[in-house]
Amino acid sequence: MSDKLWAGRFSKETDKEVDAFNSSISFDKKMVYEDIAGSIAHARMLGKQSIISETDSKEIIDGLEIIWQALKNKELKIDDEAEDIHMFIEAELTRRIGDAGKKLHTARSRNDQVATDLRLHLNSCCLFINLLLSELIKALCDISENHTETIMPGYTHLQRAQPITFAHHLMAYAQMFVRDKERLGDAVKRMMSECPLGSGALAGTTFPIDREATAKELGFLKPCANSLDGVSDRDFCVEIAGALSLIMVHLSRFSEEIILWCSWEFKFIELDDAYATGSSIMPQKKNPDVAELVRGKSARVFGDLQTLLTVMKGLPLAYNKDMQEDKEAIFDAVDTVCLCLRTFTLMLKTMTVNKENMRVAAAKGFINATDCADYLVGKGMAFRDAYKITGELVARCVKYNTDLENLPIEKYKQESELFGGDIYEALNLETCVAKRSSYGGSAPEQVRKQTEMVRERLEQWKKQ
Ligand code: ARG
Repeated sequence: MSDKLWAGRFSKETDKEVDAFNSSISFDKKMVYEDIAGSIAHARMLGKQSIISETDSKEIIDGLEIIWQALKNKELKIDDEAEDIHMFIEAELTRRIGDAGKKLHTARSRNDQVATDLRLHLNSCCLFINLLLSELIKALCDISENHTETIMPGYTHLQRAQPITFAHHLMAYAQMFVRDKERLGDAVKRMMSECPLGSGALAGTTFPIDREATAKELGFLKPCANSLDGVSDRDFCVEIAGALSLIMVHLSRFSEEIILWCSWEFKFIELDDAYATGSSIMPQKKNPDVAELVRGKSARVFGDLQTLLTVMKGLPLAYNKDMQEDKEAIFDAVDTVCLCLRTFTLMLKTMTVNKENMRVAAAKGFINATDCADYLVGKGMAFRDAYKITGELVARCVKYNTDLENLPIEKYKQESELFGGDIYEALNLETCVAKRSSYGGSAPEQVRKQTEMVRERLEQWKKQ
């Protein structure tokens, strides 16, 4: 007859197809060490509370530690035929230590077990993602420090708008990744504040368990206050997937710019040969595949977030098997973000910056027109009037196929007597950038300050 735990209640074996359909071991085996850690904490608590004997408790803990080692040393393989990782570990324990193993599941259920394992697992995944984010932010600070004077056009509507520096542009992304890191940290903090272990199947347990003890041992702040909630929400997965989605939004926008910047139309940067690919037919091609793939992979992560939201939205309390679908989605989001962050950072670190082309692009497109208007404001004119006059000057330049820097002073004077010879200095792109010294502006000293502040943040995180 069936070797299923629940065989007593059933008169038939489960159909093989249903077994395969139900099984989650192929993906929840990722949580094996968290499952063992959760079981160790539970067994220790059961012993301390005299729910099982101290001897049984010790035997279980020793047995679980041996299984842990065996897995680490690759002496034990996870059985892909098992239903899930929780069943596998319990069965393996009982196979090794006999009767004591059968007592491990006292006062718990797979429902509180899986809710705990998943939190623990995501906690370590997010620690790793945080390290990758730190590396990316550090790389951005390193590159920026060499480019606080590298002038490039800043864009709005992808039209040249005002002069900025390459460092200013890169540090904008650094700020986004700083927020991403803190956002992920907030989600993790909330996730780890309440431990679901001890919620049982849904209603708690008749045994005198000590939920404070297991929560503390596993690194949570306290036990969750409602057992139904403990086993049935996956809001922490949604929050993490949301934070991961935003990382991908930022990486994807950045990728788009990298792709533009290495095109012949821009040629602001050149990717290292090791981080670009060729074409099978066009011998001249050097393609930014890494950036394109990162942009493309953002779709997967948004899809994962959507999956999690949709899985949860109509579920009655408490646990439903639908929730087993949470893991593949959130694991895929985690894996994708890790992969993208790693490769993207390496690509950035090895790219070459083509300062000259940026400077050439900045010289075209009247990106100092605002500075021309600001010059008149400096001489006492109202901004709207100054704006109108500058517009007319730009129109003249377009007509004579010249630019503001080369327009003769008489033409300026025809528009306003306030113009003097110092207008040319005011239009100089270096001056334009240096004068944007408002907090957070393009001026080299402002951007330097920004990189210093971001570096300090990186140091603070290390101490946390
Ligand atoms: N593999 C299951 C999951 O991931 C574990 C919980 C099973 N609980 C149950 N009541 N069948 O959701």
